[in-house]
Amino acid sequence: MDVKKLSLEDRASLCNGATTRLTHKVEGLDSIHMSDGPHGLRKVIYDGVSGNPRKVKTTCFPTSAGLACSWNEELIGEVGKTIAKEAKSQQVSVILGPAVNMKRSPLCGRNFEYFSEDPYLAGKLATAYVNGVQGEGIGTSLKHFAVNSQETRRFTINEVVSERALREIYLSVFEMVVKESQPKTIMASYNMLNGEHTCESKWLLTDVLRDEWGYKGLVVSDWKAVTNIGKAITAGCDLAMPSTNGEWPKKAVAMVKEGTLDEKYLNRAAQRVADLAEWGLSNIDNDATFDVDEDHGVAADIARECMVLLKNDGMLPLKKGEKIAIIGGFARTPRFQGGGSSHVVTTKVDDIFENLEQIGGGELVYAQGYPEESDIADDALIAEAVAAAKKCGKAIVFAGLPDSYETESLDRKHMRMPEAHCKLIEEVAKACPDTTVVLSAGSPVEMPWIGSVNAILHAYLGGQALGKAIAEILYGDTNPSGKLSETHPIRLEDNPTYGFYPGDTKKSIHAEDIYIGYRWYEKKKIPVNFPFGFGLSYTKYEYESISVDKTEMTDEDTLTVTVKVKNVGERDGKEVVELYTAAPEKTAELRPVKELKGFKKVFIKAGESAEVTFELSKRAFAYWDEEENNWRVPTGKYKVLVGTSSAETPLCAEIYITEKTPVCHPITLETTYGDLTTSRAYDGVMEDFVKATILPEEMVAQLHSDEAKKDATAYYCQNYTPRMSVYAHWNIPLADVEKAIDEANKKLGY
Ligand code: BGC
Repeated sequence: MDVKKLSLEDRASLCNGATTRLTHKVEGLDSIHMSDGPHGLRKVIYDGVSGNPRKVKTTCFPTSAGLACSWNEELIGEVGKTIAKEAKSQQVSVILGPAVNMKRSPLCGRNFEYFSEDPYLAGKLATAYVNGVQGEGIGTSLKHFAVNSQETRRFTINEVVSERALREIYLSVFEMVVKESQPKTIMASYNMLNGEHTCESKWLLTDVLRDEWGYKGLVVSDWKAVTNIGKAITAGCDLAMPSTNGEWPKKAVAMVKEGTLDEKYLNRAAQRVADLAEWGLSNIDNDATFDVDEDHGVAADIARECMVLLKNDGMLPLKKGEKIAIIGGFARTPRFQGGGSSHVVTTKVDDIFENLEQIGGGELVYAQGYPEESDIADDALIAEAVAAAKKCGKAIVFAGLPDSYETESLDRKHMRMPEAHCKLIEEVAKACPDTTVVLSAGSPVEMPWIGSVNAILHAYLGGQALGKAIAEILYGDTNPSGKLSETHPIRLEDNPTYGFYPGDTKKSIHAEDIYIGYRWYEKKKIPVNFPFGFGLSYTKYEYESISVDKTEMTDEDTLTVTVKVKNVGERDGKEVVELYTAAPEKTAELRPVKELKGFKKVFIKAGESAEVTFELSKRAFAYWDEEENNWRVPTGKYKVLVGTSSAETPLCAEIYITEKTPVCHPITLETTYGDLTTSRAYDGVMEDFVKATILPEEMVAQLHSDEAKKDATAYYCQNYTPRMSVYAHWNIPLADVEKAIDEANKKLGY
């Protein structure tokens, strides 16, 4: 449809929702339906007569925090495909997900909906999800663009972030998904970014998103995020959701008439909405259905790979037929998803206890352990649990964060589990030497009891089929293969945002800059409970060898890395092979210790080896140069590190990378001698001048530290500029210095 043929009023109406979930219809074009959410379809039907909402029952998959621990792109693609089929059966055209905001602080209330603290991992997994959904003819909405790092004051908070942190962390995840899967829509977030509402940022929605990354789809606002319809449309936000009962369209029409909104932008937005609606309508299939059991099976397949075995002193896997105390209300009323717009009304939910009974076949003694509605420890419930644990000699405690702790619109106040859960674990562990803890939470928690239990399985929020997955892992029918997609710090105080999250009443400064998650803990050498990428298995893997197809290349070439990993244990298993790159030790700019740039999950039979290859190109080694406004790989020797977690990378290869077009600025009186002598870009153009003005002996003698005296040239290069040579010792006339600079610049082509 060519929207230019529509009246101004109709074009404006297209740019705002017709209801909470529907786009506007105009003559010749029907509405389409958009529904949450990332880990299962959440369709709400409003009864026309009573107005009461009716929620359709669908399959709840592990939330993104859990999905991410699978590190399995293929399975996440399957999840996307299955959710898309369910959407199709409900005539839904766009699923409002995936959400790829970075897990900056463990306190963010929506962490359970987000994938990771690492943009590469989150980007790859979200790409798999989007491709899975869109392959079925259903659209996605990549959200919340961008830097929706917190829930506190989410509609107004100004997230203050450096351009480098934006490019390397907060935007790069969106960039990857946009470039690799072209989501049909992108949802602009509520928050402000560096002083501007994201829905009204032309820089974000047009310059970066479309002009730089080549985005082709539609930008929708988060629900009620638009504060000024004219500014939003001009910036590139095409559709303001939900309905405003005609208020925004009326305003847009008035703005066009008074000349404060250029009609061409209104047309652009309306056209994008019409194009999306036409695409959605062309994919509607009124006969589509879905099979509850089949989809529950897909939920179980992924849940098995999302659970992370964090500790195992030998208690797991459990022997079948044993008598075990099963403690904690979560065993019967599991915690498997979070609260807010992503909340799914499930087709069914596994009872963990029943699955343990079925798979384990032994006598299980249940004790509730903590009250359902309160965080305060109940001594009677604890005493009952302790008695059960003593009687059985083995206990599994199901604990973690209750529903109220993890929900949209609220951040957590602390990183602790409820007192009732912690005290229960401590008392049971004291009474029973064989105690395993199974945690349910979408984010890290402090674990003061960590040393007193034998095993910890983190189930994250495992979706409706978590019961089977947990039982299979505990009894060893499934070999655990999940790895953490975020660091678990020991204390909240260790997290880089501690003390300034969630900011003041107006702004939240991302002072840690690019040092989010493991980038921070590694740089500061802060011990953690469990590092990024960590997860145990019932087998053992040996990282045998690494080879690279070259040892030197330019930043325009691609490096192929081949790695061999052997399963040296007695069980078949799936291993996530993680690849990190590290910049040269001495660089002009600060760099993280290492960064994830590749991963592959491989199935390896006991006793066999697998060969895994990775291709690494410029972005795997680059940083964002704020001065150049571009990605750069300064010349030097880079490392490629491969291993089983961020803390264990036994394989290492080196690659010398030459920057093909080294950055070169005209030389000035303030260019350091360091830049002049070490940068290939300057090609020794002022070599004679530098040699003639080297530090004389008597000045070296005056240097304050022995180290500086020993390495006088380095000291001098770091501190001196051509201007210094007009002073004593050299007394070179300023005109001569300027002449030398002019000549050098001529040689450089300036
Ligand atoms: C949330 C979005 C969600 C939308 C529609 C908003 O409050 O932030 O993630 O998609 O509501 O339900």
